[in-house]
Amino acid sequence: MEQYIMKGGNPLVGEVTVSGAKNAALGILTAAIMTDEDVLIENLPDVRDINVMLEAIEEIGARVERVDRHTVRINASTIQEISVDDEYIRRIRASYYFIGALLGKYKSAQVPLPGGCNIGSRPIDQHLKGFRALGGDVRIEGGAVIVHAIDLVGSHIYLDVVSVGATINIMMAATLAEGLTILENVAKEPHVVDVANFLNSMGANIKGAGTDTIRIHGVKKLHGTEYSIIPDQIEAGTFMCAAAVTRGDVMIKNVIPKHLEAITAKLLEIGCEVIEFDDAVRVVGKPAQRHTDIKTLPYPGFPTDMQPQMTVTLALAAGTSMVTESIFENRFKYVDELARMGSCIKVEGNVAVIDGVKRLTGAQVNAPDLRAGAALVLAGLAAEGVTEVDEIGYIQRGYECFEEKLQGLGALIEKVDSEKEAQKFRLKVG
Ligand code: EPZ
Repeated sequence: MEQYIMKGGNPLVGEVTVSGAKNAALGILTAAIMTDEDVLIENLPDVRDINVMLEAIEEIGARVERVDRHTVRINASTIQEISVDDEYIRRIRASYYFIGALLGKYKSAQVPLPGGCNIGSRPIDQHLKGFRALGGDVRIEGGAVIVHAIDLVGSHIYLDVVSVGATINIMMAATLAEGLTILENVAKEPHVVDVANFLNSMGANIKGAGTDTIRIHGVKKLHGTEYSIIPDQIEAGTFMCAAAVTRGDVMIKNVIPKHLEAITAKLLEIGCEVIEFDDAVRVVGKPAQRHTDIKTLPYPGFPTDMQPQMTVTLALAAGTSMVTESIFENRFKYVDELARMGSCIKVEGNVAVIDGVKRLTGAQVNAPDLRAGAALVLAGLAAEGVTEVDEIGYIQRGYECFEEKLQGLGALIEKVDSEKEAQKFRLKVG
Protein backbone atom coordinates (compact mmCIF):
# COMPACT_ATOMS: atom_id res chain seq x y z
CA MET A 1 0.00 0.00 0.00
CA GLU A 2 1.57 3.26 -1.13
CA GLN A 3 2.12 6.03 1.38
CA TYR A 4 4.07 9.24 1.69
CA ILE A 5 6.67 9.31 4.40
CA MET A 6 8.37 12.55 5.31
CA LYS A 7 10.57 14.17 7.90
CA GLY A 8 9.36 17.67 8.63
CA GLY A 9 10.96 20.78 9.96
CA ASN A 10 12.81 22.00 6.84
CA PRO A 11 11.69 25.28 5.31
CA LEU A 12 10.80 24.68 1.63
CA VAL A 13 12.99 26.81 -0.60
CA GLY A 14 13.32 27.08 -4.38
CA GLU A 15 11.18 27.10 -7.50
CA VAL A 16 8.28 24.89 -8.50
CA THR A 17 6.27 24.81 -11.72
CA VAL A 18 2.52 24.34 -11.59
CA SER A 19 0.79 21.88 -13.97
CA GLY A 20 -2.37 22.37 -16.00
CA ALA A 21 -5.67 22.77 -14.16
CA LYS A 22 -7.29 19.40 -13.42
CA ASN A 23 -10.80 20.75 -13.10
CA ALA A 24 -10.56 22.72 -16.35
CA ALA A 25 -9.06 19.70 -18.11
CA LEU A 26 -11.93 17.42 -17.05
CA GLY A 27 -14.46 19.74 -18.71
CA ILE A 28 -12.27 20.36 -21.76
CA LEU A 29 -11.59 16.67 -22.43
CA THR A 30 -15.29 15.84 -22.47
CA ALA A 31 -16.10 18.93 -24.56
CA ALA A 32 -13.50 17.69 -27.07
CA ILE A 33 -15.79 14.82 -28.06
CA MET A 34 -18.38 17.32 -29.32
CA THR A 35 -16.69 17.62 -32.71
CA ASP A 36 -15.76 14.95 -35.26
CA GLU A 37 -12.56 16.82 -36.13
CA ASP A 38 -9.15 16.53 -34.44
CA VAL A 39 -8.68 18.39 -31.16
CA LEU A 40 -5.20 18.92 -29.72
CA ILE A 41 -5.07 19.68 -26.00
CA GLU A 42 -1.86 20.89 -24.36
CA ASN A 43 -0.78 21.46 -20.75
CA LEU A 44 -2.86 18.51 -19.58
CA PRO A 45 -1.92 17.47 -16.03
CA ASP A 46 -0.70 13.87 -15.74
CA VAL A 47 -2.92 12.89 -12.80
CA ARG A 48 -5.20 9.91 -12.16
CA ASP A 49 -8.56 11.61 -12.70
CA ILE A 50 -7.44 12.86 -16.11
CA ASN A 51 -6.07 9.47 -17.14
CA VAL A 52 -9.32 7.76 -16.11
CA MET A 53 -11.27 10.34 -18.11
CA LEU A 54 -9.11 9.66 -21.19
CA GLU A 55 -9.71 5.92 -20.84
CA ALA A 56 -13.46 6.50 -20.67
CA ILE A 57 -13.30 8.65 -23.81
CA GLU A 58 -11.50 5.81 -25.59
CA GLU A 59 -13.98 3.30 -24.18
CA ILE A 60 -16.92 4.95 -25.96
CA GLY A 61 -15.05 4.74 -29.26
CA ALA A 62 -13.11 8.01 -29.66
CA ARG A 63 -9.46 7.91 -30.73
CA VAL A 64 -7.05 9.23 -28.11
CA GLU A 65 -3.44 9.76 -29.11
CA ARG A 66 -0.90 10.67 -26.44
CA VAL A 67 1.39 13.11 -28.23
CA ASP A 68 3.50 13.50 -25.10
CA ARG A 69 3.01 13.39 -21.33
CA HIS A 70 1.00 16.63 -21.33
CA THR A 71 -0.49 16.68 -24.83
CA VAL A 72 -3.27 14.61 -26.27
CA ARG A 73 -5.05 14.48 -29.63
CA ILE A 74 -8.68 13.38 -29.57
CA ASN A 75 -10.83 12.46 -32.54
CA ALA A 76 -14.42 11.60 -31.66
CA SER A 77 -15.69 10.80 -35.16
CA THR A 78 -15.56 7.10 -34.29
CA ILE A 79 -17.80 7.26 -31.19
CA GLN A 80 -20.33 4.43 -31.22
CA GLU A 81 -21.73 4.61 -27.70
CA ILE A 82 -23.81 7.23 -25.96
CA SER A 83 -23.59 5.09 -22.85
CA VAL A 84 -20.56 5.59 -20.63
CA ASP A 85 -20.07 2.70 -18.28
CA ASP A 86 -16.68 2.06 -16.95
CA GLU A 87 -16.09 0.89 -13.40
CA TYR A 88 -13.52 3.65 -12.84
CA ILE A 89 -15.48 6.52 -14.32
CA ARG A 90 -18.10 6.06 -11.60
CA ARG A 91 -15.47 7.13 -9.11
CA ILE A 92 -14.83 10.43 -10.86
CA ARG A 93 -17.17 13.22 -10.06
CA ALA A 94 -16.64 14.89 -13.42
CA SER A 95 -18.02 11.88 -15.29
CA TYR A 96 -21.22 13.94 -15.27
CA TYR A 97 -19.69 16.11 -18.02
CA PHE A 98 -20.34 13.27 -20.45
CA ILE A 99 -24.06 14.01 -20.07
CA GLY A 100 -23.77 17.58 -21.37
CA ALA A 101 -21.28 16.69 -24.10
CA LEU A 102 -23.16 13.63 -25.43
CA LEU A 103 -26.57 15.27 -25.10
CA GLY A 104 -25.34 18.29 -27.08
CA LYS A 105 -23.80 16.22 -29.84
CA TYR A 106 -26.04 13.13 -30.06
CA LYS A 107 -29.20 14.35 -28.23
CA SER A 108 -28.84 11.29 -26.03
CA ALA A 109 -26.69 10.23 -23.08
CA GLN A 110 -26.49 7.50 -20.48
CA VAL A 111 -24.00 8.05 -17.68
CA PRO A 112 -23.67 6.45 -14.20
CA LEU A 113 -24.42 8.81 -11.33
CA PRO A 114 -21.03 10.17 -10.30
CA GLY A 115 -18.80 9.33 -7.35
CA GLY A 116 -15.78 11.44 -6.44
CA CYS A 117 -14.21 12.73 -3.27
CA ASN A 118 -16.27 12.11 -0.18
CA ILE A 119 -16.68 15.71 0.96
CA GLY A 120 -20.43 15.87 1.47
CA SER A 121 -23.66 15.12 -0.33
CA ARG A 122 -23.22 16.25 -3.90
CA PRO A 123 -26.54 16.41 -5.75
CA ILE A 124 -26.71 17.12 -9.49
CA ASP A 125 -30.27 18.45 -9.51
CA GLN A 126 -29.16 21.76 -11.07
CA HIS A 127 -27.49 19.96 -13.98
CA LEU A 128 -30.68 17.98 -14.60
CA LYS A 129 -32.84 21.09 -14.27
CA GLY A 130 -30.77 22.65 -17.05
CA PHE A 131 -31.02 19.62 -19.36
CA ARG A 132 -34.80 19.53 -18.86
CA ALA A 133 -35.07 23.25 -19.64
CA LEU A 134 -33.24 22.60 -22.93
CA GLY A 135 -35.84 19.96 -23.85
CA GLY A 136 -34.20 16.81 -22.49
CA ASP A 137 -36.28 13.98 -21.09
CA VAL A 138 -34.30 13.04 -17.98
CA ARG A 139 -34.67 9.76 -16.05
CA ILE A 140 -32.61 8.08 -13.36
CA GLU A 141 -32.59 4.32 -13.85
CA GLY A 142 -30.31 1.58 -12.55
CA GLY A 143 -27.91 4.10 -11.01
CA ALA A 144 -27.51 6.04 -14.25
CA VAL A 145 -28.77 9.31 -15.66
CA ILE A 146 -30.52 8.74 -18.98
CA VAL A 147 -31.33 11.77 -21.11
CA HIS A 148 -32.93 11.93 -24.56
CA ALA A 149 -34.07 14.94 -26.53
CA ILE A 150 -35.88 15.19 -29.84
CA ASP A 151 -34.66 18.76 -30.22
CA LEU A 152 -32.48 20.76 -27.89
CA VAL A 153 -33.80 24.30 -27.72
CA GLY A 154 -32.20 27.29 -26.00
CA SER A 155 -33.83 28.44 -22.77
CA HIS A 156 -33.60 30.92 -19.89
CA ILE A 157 -32.19 29.01 -16.92
CA TYR A 158 -31.62 30.31 -13.40
CA LEU A 159 -29.38 28.15 -11.19
CA ASP A 160 -30.65 27.88 -7.60
CA VAL A 161 -27.11 27.25 -6.33
CA VAL A 162 -23.87 28.46 -7.81
CA SER A 163 -22.42 25.25 -9.21
CA VAL A 164 -19.24 24.82 -11.24
CA GLY A 165 -20.35 21.45 -12.61
CA ALA A 166 -23.88 22.54 -13.55
CA THR A 167 -22.59 25.70 -15.24
CA ILE A 168 -20.10 23.78 -17.41
CA ASN A 169 -22.44 20.90 -18.13
CA ILE A 170 -25.41 23.00 -19.22
CA MET A 171 -23.10 25.32 -21.18
CA MET A 172 -21.79 22.32 -23.17
CA ALA A 173 -25.25 21.02 -24.07
CA ALA A 174 -26.56 24.52 -24.90
CA THR A 175 -23.64 25.09 -27.30
CA LEU A 176 -25.32 22.78 -29.81
CA ALA A 177 -28.95 23.68 -28.95
CA GLU A 178 -31.12 25.75 -31.27
CA GLY A 179 -31.25 29.47 -30.44
CA LEU A 180 -30.24 31.42 -27.34
CA THR A 181 -29.66 30.06 -23.84
CA ILE A 182 -29.31 32.50 -20.97
CA LEU A 183 -27.74 30.90 -17.89
CA GLU A 184 -28.07 32.98 -14.73
CA ASN A 185 -26.41 32.78 -11.30
CA VAL A 186 -23.57 30.75 -12.76
CA ALA A 187 -20.16 29.85 -11.33
CA LYS A 188 -17.33 32.23 -12.27
CA GLU A 189 -14.35 29.98 -11.50
CA PRO A 190 -11.31 30.24 -13.81
CA HIS A 191 -11.99 26.70 -15.08
CA VAL A 192 -15.54 27.68 -16.15
CA VAL A 193 -13.98 30.45 -18.24
CA ASP A 194 -11.37 28.07 -19.63
CA VAL A 195 -13.99 25.55 -20.79
CA ALA A 196 -15.99 28.39 -22.41
CA ASN A 197 -12.84 29.66 -24.17
CA PHE A 198 -12.12 26.14 -25.38
CA LEU A 199 -15.66 25.70 -26.75
CA ASN A 200 -15.42 29.10 -28.45
CA SER A 201 -12.15 27.98 -30.06
CA MET A 202 -14.20 25.09 -31.53
CA GLY A 203 -16.71 27.52 -33.04
CA ALA A 204 -19.17 27.89 -30.14
CA ASN A 205 -20.73 31.28 -29.40
CA ILE A 206 -20.52 31.76 -25.62
CA LYS A 207 -20.39 35.18 -24.01
CA GLY A 208 -20.15 36.27 -20.38
CA ALA A 209 -18.18 33.36 -18.86
CA GLY A 210 -16.58 34.76 -15.70
CA THR A 211 -19.64 36.91 -14.92
CA ASP A 212 -22.96 35.96 -13.28
CA THR A 213 -24.74 35.47 -16.62
CA ILE A 214 -23.62 33.39 -19.59
CA ARG A 215 -25.32 33.79 -22.99
CA ILE A 216 -24.95 30.96 -25.45
CA HIS A 217 -26.08 31.24 -29.08
CA GLY A 218 -26.41 27.66 -30.26
CA VAL A 219 -24.38 26.66 -33.34
CA LYS A 220 -25.01 23.74 -35.73
CA LYS A 221 -21.64 22.07 -35.24
CA LEU A 222 -18.22 22.48 -33.70
CA HIS A 223 -14.85 22.13 -35.41
CA GLY A 224 -11.35 20.99 -34.42
CA THR A 225 -8.98 23.16 -32.41
CA GLU A 226 -5.65 23.37 -30.61
CA TYR A 227 -5.85 24.58 -27.03
CA SER A 228 -3.60 24.94 -23.97
CA ILE A 229 -5.17 24.51 -20.52
CA ILE A 230 -4.72 27.19 -17.83
CA PRO A 231 -2.46 26.54 -14.83
CA ASP A 232 -3.99 24.88 -11.78
CA GLN A 233 -5.12 27.50 -9.27
CA ILE A 234 -5.40 24.98 -6.43
CA GLU A 235 -2.03 23.31 -7.02
CA ALA A 236 -0.48 26.79 -7.00
CA GLY A 237 -2.35 27.67 -3.78
CA THR A 238 -1.19 24.42 -2.17
CA PHE A 239 2.47 25.32 -2.81
CA MET A 240 1.79 28.85 -1.51
CA CYS A 241 0.58 27.33 1.77
CA ALA A 242 3.52 24.90 1.74
CA ALA A 243 5.89 27.89 1.70
CA ALA A 244 3.90 29.65 4.43
CA VAL A 245 3.52 26.75 6.85
CA THR A 246 7.16 25.57 6.58
CA ARG A 247 8.39 29.19 6.91
CA GLY A 248 10.05 28.76 3.54
CA ASP A 249 10.59 30.88 0.45
CA VAL A 250 9.12 29.48 -2.77
CA MET A 251 8.78 30.88 -6.27
CA ILE A 252 5.70 29.28 -7.81
CA LYS A 253 5.92 29.45 -11.60
CA ASN A 254 3.34 29.08 -14.39
CA VAL A 255 0.45 30.66 -12.49
CA ILE A 256 -2.13 33.35 -13.22
CA PRO A 257 -1.73 35.61 -10.13
CA LYS A 258 -5.26 37.03 -10.57
CA HIS A 259 -6.70 33.53 -9.91
CA LEU A 260 -4.79 33.41 -6.61
CA GLU A 261 -5.96 36.74 -5.16
CA ALA A 262 -8.15 35.27 -2.39
CA ILE A 263 -5.29 33.04 -1.22
CA THR A 264 -2.73 35.83 -1.52
CA ALA A 265 -4.94 38.16 0.55
CA LYS A 266 -5.17 35.64 3.40
CA LEU A 267 -1.43 34.87 3.40
CA LEU A 268 -0.70 38.61 3.58
CA GLU A 269 -3.18 38.95 6.47
CA ILE A 270 -1.36 36.30 8.51
CA GLY A 271 1.97 38.04 7.93
CA CYS A 272 3.55 36.23 4.96
CA GLU A 273 5.16 38.09 2.11
CA VAL A 274 3.64 37.48 -1.33
CA ILE A 275 5.29 39.00 -4.38
CA GLU A 276 3.45 38.81 -7.70
CA PHE A 277 5.14 38.56 -11.09
CA ASP A 278 3.51 38.24 -14.54
CA ASP A 279 3.22 34.47 -14.36
CA ALA A 280 4.67 33.59 -10.97
CA VAL A 281 4.19 34.31 -7.28
CA ARG A 282 6.84 34.17 -4.58
CA VAL A 283 5.71 33.37 -1.05
CA VAL A 284 7.96 34.00 1.93
CA GLY A 285 6.63 32.35 5.07
CA LYS A 286 7.64 34.64 7.91
CA PRO A 287 8.52 33.00 11.26
CA ALA A 288 5.78 34.83 13.18
CA GLN A 289 2.35 34.29 11.61
CA ARG A 290 -0.96 35.38 13.10
CA HIS A 291 -4.55 34.21 13.02
CA THR A 292 -7.28 35.20 10.57
CA ASP A 293 -10.83 34.19 9.66
CA ILE A 294 -11.81 32.54 6.39
CA LYS A 295 -15.10 31.64 4.76
CA THR A 296 -15.15 29.51 1.64
CA LEU A 297 -17.24 30.94 -1.18
CA PRO A 298 -17.65 30.56 -4.94
CA TYR A 299 -15.00 32.40 -7.00
CA PRO A 300 -13.76 35.11 -6.51
CA GLY A 301 -14.24 34.12 -2.85
CA PHE A 302 -11.84 31.86 -0.98
CA PRO A 303 -11.91 28.41 -2.68
CA THR A 304 -13.24 25.43 -0.76
CA ASP A 305 -10.50 23.39 -2.44
CA MET A 306 -7.93 25.44 -0.47
CA GLN A 307 -9.72 25.19 2.88
CA PRO A 308 -7.73 22.24 4.34
CA GLN A 309 -4.34 23.63 3.24
CA MET A 310 -5.16 27.01 4.80
CA THR A 311 -6.47 25.39 7.99
CA VAL A 312 -3.14 23.56 8.37
CA THR A 313 -1.34 26.87 7.89
CA LEU A 314 -3.50 28.51 10.56
CA ALA A 315 -2.92 25.57 12.91
CA LEU A 316 0.63 26.95 13.30
CA ALA A 317 -0.29 30.66 13.37
CA ALA A 318 -0.55 32.50 16.70
CA GLY A 319 -4.05 33.19 18.07
CA THR A 320 -7.52 31.90 17.27
CA SER A 321 -8.72 31.60 13.68
CA MET A 322 -12.16 30.67 12.41
CA VAL A 323 -12.65 28.79 9.14
CA THR A 324 -16.22 28.52 7.83
CA GLU A 325 -16.90 25.95 5.10
CA SER A 326 -19.94 27.09 3.17
CA ILE A 327 -19.75 24.91 0.04
CA PHE A 328 -19.49 21.28 1.24
CA GLU A 329 -20.79 20.02 4.59
CA ASN A 330 -18.26 17.26 5.16
CA ARG A 331 -14.94 18.85 4.47
CA PHE A 332 -13.39 18.85 7.95
CA LYS A 333 -12.80 15.12 8.26
CA TYR A 334 -9.04 15.59 8.23
CA VAL A 335 -9.17 17.61 11.46
CA ASP A 336 -9.16 14.42 13.57
CA GLU A 337 -6.00 13.33 11.75
CA LEU A 338 -4.43 16.71 12.35
CA ALA A 339 -5.27 16.45 16.07
CA ARG A 340 -3.00 13.38 16.16
CA MET A 341 -0.17 15.68 15.15
CA GLY A 342 -0.85 18.04 18.04
CA SER A 343 -3.11 20.67 16.49
CA CYS A 344 -5.84 22.30 18.52
CA ILE A 345 -8.96 22.60 16.35
CA LYS A 346 -12.62 22.27 17.30
CA VAL A 347 -15.24 21.73 14.63
CA GLU A 348 -18.82 22.77 15.22
CA GLY A 349 -21.07 22.27 12.23
CA ASN A 350 -19.42 23.99 9.32
CA VAL A 351 -17.02 26.06 11.42
CA ALA A 352 -13.54 25.12 12.59
CA VAL A 353 -12.12 27.10 15.49
CA ILE A 354 -8.35 26.85 15.39
CA ASP A 355 -6.11 27.71 18.32
CA GLY A 356 -2.69 28.08 16.81
CA VAL A 357 0.00 25.87 18.39
CA LYS A 358 3.76 26.39 18.39
CA ARG A 359 4.63 22.99 16.93
CA LEU A 360 3.16 19.89 15.33
CA THR A 361 4.72 16.46 15.74
CA GLY A 362 4.87 13.64 13.20
CA ALA A 363 2.25 10.89 13.24
CA GLN A 364 0.66 8.26 10.99
CA VAL A 365 -2.41 9.81 9.36
CA ASN A 366 -4.95 8.96 6.67
CA ALA A 367 -5.82 11.15 3.71
CA PRO A 368 -9.64 11.32 3.69
CA ASP A 369 -9.87 13.09 0.31
CA LEU A 370 -7.74 14.88 -2.29
CA ARG A 371 -7.22 18.36 -0.82
CA ALA A 372 -7.24 17.19 2.81
CA GLY A 373 -4.59 14.63 1.81
CA ALA A 374 -2.38 17.36 0.37
CA ALA A 375 -2.97 19.45 3.52
CA LEU A 376 -1.82 16.57 5.75
CA VAL A 377 1.39 16.35 3.70
CA LEU A 378 1.95 20.07 4.33
CA ALA A 379 1.36 19.46 8.04
CA GLY A 380 3.90 16.62 7.93
CA LEU A 381 6.48 18.85 6.27
CA ALA A 382 6.02 21.48 8.98
CA ALA A 383 5.96 18.98 11.87
CA GLU A 384 8.85 17.75 13.94
CA GLY A 385 9.75 14.13 13.26
CA VAL A 386 8.41 11.60 10.80
CA THR A 387 4.87 11.62 9.37
CA GLU A 388 3.30 8.90 7.26
CA VAL A 389 0.29 9.76 5.13
CA ASP A 390 -1.81 6.77 4.00
CA GLU A 391 -4.47 6.57 1.26
CA ILE A 392 -2.38 8.73 -1.06
CA GLY A 393 -4.38 7.51 -4.06
CA TYR A 394 -6.62 10.48 -3.31
CA ILE A 395 -3.70 12.91 -3.61
CA GLN A 396 -2.55 11.32 -6.88
CA ARG A 397 -5.99 12.01 -8.38
CA GLY A 398 -5.17 15.70 -8.54
CA TYR A 399 -1.48 16.49 -7.95
CA GLU A 400 1.10 15.69 -10.60
CA CYS A 401 4.43 14.43 -9.21
CA PHE A 402 3.57 15.85 -5.81
CA GLU A 403 6.47 14.27 -3.96
CA GLU A 404 8.98 15.09 -6.73
CA LYS A 405 7.94 18.73 -6.78
CA LEU A 406 8.24 18.91 -2.98
CA GLN A 407 11.65 17.17 -3.09
CA GLY A 408 12.72 19.87 -5.57
CA LEU A 409 12.02 22.39 -2.79
CA GLY A 410 14.19 20.48 -0.33
CA ALA A 411 11.45 18.44 1.35
CA LEU A 412 12.49 15.12 2.85
CA ILE A 413 9.58 13.11 1.46
CA GLU A 414 9.30 9.79 -0.37
CA LYS A 415 6.59 7.62 -1.78
CA VAL A 416 7.03 4.11 -0.37
CA ASP A 417 4.99 0.96 -0.72
CA SER A 418 6.33 -1.36 1.95
CA GLU A 419 7.35 -1.19 5.60
CA LYS A 420 10.87 -2.09 4.46
CA GLU A 421 11.08 1.02 2.29
CA ALA A 422 9.60 3.14 5.08
CA GLN A 423 12.22 1.80 7.47
CA LYS A 424 14.96 2.61 4.96
CA PHE A 425 13.67 6.19 4.80
CA ARG A 426 13.66 6.49 8.60
CA LEU A 427 17.26 5.27 8.77
CA LYS A 428 18.31 7.67 6.02
CA VAL A 429 16.80 10.78 7.63
CA GLY A 430 17.96 9.78 11.13
C1 EPZ B 1 -16.27 21.33 -8.55
O1 EPZ B 1 -17.14 20.32 -8.06
C2 EPZ B 1 -14.88 20.78 -8.42
N1 EPZ B 1 -14.78 19.53 -9.16
C3 EPZ B 1 -14.54 20.56 -6.96
O2 EPZ B 1 -13.18 20.21 -6.91
C4 EPZ B 1 -14.76 21.85 -6.17
O3 EPZ B 1 -14.61 21.59 -4.80
C5 EPZ B 1 -16.16 22.41 -6.42
O4 EPZ B 1 -16.39 22.54 -7.85
C6 EPZ B 1 -16.38 23.78 -5.80
O5 EPZ B 1 -15.46 24.69 -6.31
C7 EPZ B 1 -14.61 19.56 -10.47
O6 EPZ B 1 -14.51 20.59 -11.10
C8 EPZ B 1 -14.52 18.24 -11.15
P1 EPZ B 1 -20.35 22.45 -7.38
P2 EPZ B 1 -18.69 20.40 -8.37
O7 EPZ B 1 -21.39 21.89 -8.29
O8 EPZ B 1 -18.87 21.01 -9.71
C9 EPZ B 1 -24.23 22.16 -4.57
C10 EPZ B 1 -11.27 19.13 -6.03
O9 EPZ B 1 -10.74 18.99 -4.90
N2 EPZ B 1 -24.92 21.61 -5.77
O10 EPZ B 1 -19.78 23.78 -7.69
O11 EPZ B 1 -19.25 19.06 -8.15
C11 EPZ B 1 -23.17 21.22 -4.04
O12 EPZ B 1 -23.70 20.26 -3.18
C12 EPZ B 1 -12.75 19.07 -6.17
O13 EPZ B 1 -10.62 19.28 -7.09
C13 EPZ B 1 -26.28 21.35 -5.70
O14 EPZ B 1 -26.93 21.54 -4.67
O15 EPZ B 1 -19.16 21.39 -7.25
C14 EPZ B 1 -22.23 22.18 -3.35
O16 EPZ B 1 -22.72 22.50 -2.07
C15 EPZ B 1 -13.48 18.40 -5.14
N3 EPZ B 1 -26.90 20.88 -6.83
C16 EPZ B 1 -22.30 23.44 -4.22
O17 EPZ B 1 -23.51 23.31 -4.97
C17 EPZ B 1 -26.22 20.66 -7.99
O18 EPZ B 1 -26.85 20.24 -8.97
C18 EPZ B 1 -21.15 23.64 -5.18
O19 EPZ B 1 -20.91 22.44 -5.91
C19 EPZ B 1 -24.85 20.92 -8.03
C20 EPZ B 1 -24.21 21.39 -6.90
